Amino acid sequence: MDRRRFLRNLFAGAVAGTAAMRGFPALAGDPARFAAGLREYPWLAGWRSVASETLGPATVPVQGRLPAGFAGTLYRNGPAWTERNGFRYEHWFDGDGMVHGWRFNGDGTLTHHARMVATPKFVREQAAGRFLFPAAGTTVPETQPVRNNDDANAANTSVMVLDGRLFALCEAGSAFELDPDRLETIGPVTWRQDLAAMPFSAHPLVDADGSVWNFGSIGLMGGTGLLVWHLGADGHLREAQVLDAPGHGYLHAFAMTARHLVFVLIPFRFDEHGGAFFERMRFTPDQPSRIAVVSKDAPGQARWFEAPFAAIYHFGDAFERNGTIVVRAVRHADIDSARSPMHGAMNGDGRPRAGSGARLAELHLDLRDGRARWEDTGIAGIEFPLFDPRSPGDRGARLYAPATDGDEATPYFNAVAAFDPARGRRQLHRYGTGILAEEHVFVPRPGRGGVDAGWLVGTLLDADRQRSGIAVFDARHVDAGPLAQAWLPYTVPLGFHGRFAAA
Ligand SMILES: [Fe+2]
Repeated sequence: MDRRRFLRNLFAGAVAGTAAMRGFPALAGDPARFAAGLREYPWLAGWRSVASETLGPATVPVQGRLPAGFAGTLYRNGPAWTERNGFRYEHWFDGDGMVHGWRFNGDGTLTHHARMVATPKFVREQAAGRFLFPAAGTTVPETQPVRNNDDANAANTSVMVLDGRLFALCEAGSAFELDPDRLETIGPVTWRQDLAAMPFSAHPLVDADGSVWNFGSIGLMGGTGLLVWHLGADGHLREAQVLDAPGHGYLHAFAMTARHLVFVLIPFRFDEHGGAFFERMRFTPDQPSRIAVVSKDAPGQARWFEAPFAAIYHFGDAFERNGTIVVRAVRHADIDSARSPMHGAMNGDGRPRAGSGARLAELHLDLRDGRARWEDTGIAGIEFPLFDPRSPGDRGARLYAPATDGDEATPYFNAVAAFDPARGRRQLHRYGTGILAEEHVFVPRPGRGGVDAGWLVGTLLDADRQRSGIAVFDARHVDAGPLAQAWLPYTVPLGFHGRFAAA
């Protein structure tokens, strides 16, 4: 790879962004306004800043009946530290990451504990008592210059478990390795010396052989193109390739089939006025999305497709049939809301509001004639779709996702559902008024039993009783309600993504 050109692209964007922030007036949220909103709308506890480096441990009874032999830990990550010194981040993606361990002890109890990821940013800001470094979506006054991606890395988006090791992930810098038992930070991971501090996104995908594919977005830093990562199941780097792209494109995640990786680049431009990345970034729906289809045999080369614009964060499954790749993704109709999800909640505004118009769509990529088109599935009001990785690669998988069911007092998910889009079937469990539902991870049942034999494990915020909790479902009977639930004596901030590590 041409490392010098890669770095030039990367840091041209980073340095320009930092310079533009200097002297720019602070527009950020007001902690007092958030506190006032929280008094009126208790569900805003999901966006309240933590003020200590650890939460728990708390050991609580598991109510209901856990499946026999069900033991392990759901690790989750999310932005948690959002206020310092009278300054509050405005954008949900800004807060420093806190990693949670929800451990099913195997004896009818669950233990929760959580710890801030000790990134260089977090450690320096703890010592200073104020935010010092640029954030993704809020202009921070008087920031210090960043030397590389990891100086501003909030490690706040997801986790990866690989070869018994635990990592906190964020899209604009290195993975940070953590101790899987104590959640203490070991440090940023350099997969290969010349790739130190390169972006390693928060949505790696695990292949059938246990190896891991991921990308790093150069577009996030102002350049163009992708870095494609391939790690072995042993946690060692197999390959890293630079994929050139024909223009700017934002992507948060990607999809894959047995043979291909699919990267959907969302077109955007930068607003001429300064500010943080998401303040300056404007999606451009008048431009097409460019889609790279990359053979796993040659990850430095792509075949490019064009399809109508779509604002996407998350993909479901992808499959290949009759020379066509079909990719499932959640499209957001309201692109301003997509640029700053839950912006009202971050700023203490709990009034009812319309969602982002999220709908599950299928992207059809015809490998014979090079055409691409979107098809709506009719499924709306979902995010964070997941599926059984054992699903066959020639037809659509059953998808599992938090969902919005009926009228709700909060603009967040209140249910979990299983969808079979091809057959138009849905199973849903509505949690009840005042309960916010997060991502529900699919946990395969060991041994035989077939595809979709397994469990869903998802976290909850019960706003009325000010407690966070976790629920376990039989994935084939979501509408039967949780098999088991456990509730903590406190709330934790809502996060984004998790992985379950079986004991
Ligand atoms: Fe994500």
